[in-house]
Amino acid sequence: MTQSFKPVRKAVFPVAGLGTRLLPATKSMPKEMLTVIDRPLIQYAVDEAREAGIDQLIMVTGRGKNSLVDYFDISFELEATMRDKGKDLSVLDSSRVPYGELITVRQQQPLGLGHAVWCARHVVGNEPFAVLLPDDLMAGTPGALKQMVDAYNEVGGNIVCAEEVAPDKTGSYGIVTPGESRGKLTEVRGLVEKPKPEVAPSRLGVIGRYILQPEVMDVLDAQETGAGGEIQLTDAMARLIGTQPFHAVKVDAVRHDCGDRAGYVRATIALALEREDLREVVREAMKQG
Ligand code: UTP
Repeated sequence: MTQSFKPVRKAVFPVAGLGTRLLPATKSMPKEMLTVIDRPLIQYAVDEAREAGIDQLIMVTGRGKNSLVDYFDISFELEATMRDKGKDLSVLDSSRVPYGELITVRQQQPLGLGHAVWCARHVVGNEPFAVLLPDDLMAGTPGALKQMVDAYNEVGGNIVCAEEVAPDKTGSYGIVTPGESRGKLTEVRGLVEKPKPEVAPSRLGVIGRYILQPEVMDVLDAQETGAGGEIQLTDAMARLIGTQPFHAVKVDAVRHDCGDRAGYVRATIALALEREDLREVVREAMKQG
């Protein structure tokens, strides 16, 4: 008999960070509004969440982030003008959110990812929920979160998305102490935030997609700080290990870290090469470059 787990219907998008690695671009514009081809990073993440069955989008915003919320609103003047001119409005479809399905909460100070997630605790309530970091653009079909939800439906509990990271890069990730592996799933026996390569328990690094049980909020209530003086999600997740099932899953998707200059450029090139209308132009430009 297969077990059934409480469905994952809510997704938290922490978008209150300062995006200092991309300054000056992110001085007055949220990092998550940076555009890859023709849509902002937040749109890719929201599309991925919807595909995975999420119907409650919870955005954790901060000062200067209002354009992220406006983006999902109706743009009355724009639509009226386009309609008058007989232009096709379907190009705006994915940027419309059904009434009441986007909820925003404020993280008044960027005290860390764990703190940002905790700011959504009253909206998350007592349900499992997903967390998507929009600056990790995941290119895959089906999307990364859909693949994770499929894994969740098999094993329940907490699931982090993970990939093998370069040996000298463990200090940029939460790193897994791995247990048994079965296919794409690896049991998580421990988690450590940003370990130096010489003390890292593996090279299995957590990337910006999570499915978490609501109990993580109780751990975050303690507001304990970790690496970099921030309230770390990794530390809170680590406290759940042993009390609930905890797995890492390697999804079939390519991650582009758009919070970093090189990753952002690579994402733009990779996605352009996948598009029929742009492929040839980009190939030609690269040949000439
Ligand atoms: P990052 O560390 O990549 O984002 O956090 P950052 O702090 O904005 O970027 P840099 O390092 O200064 O360039 C990952 C995600 O968590 C959010 C960020 O917005 C990003 O989506 N975050 C981070 C918050 O919402 N609040 C925080 O306090 C920290």
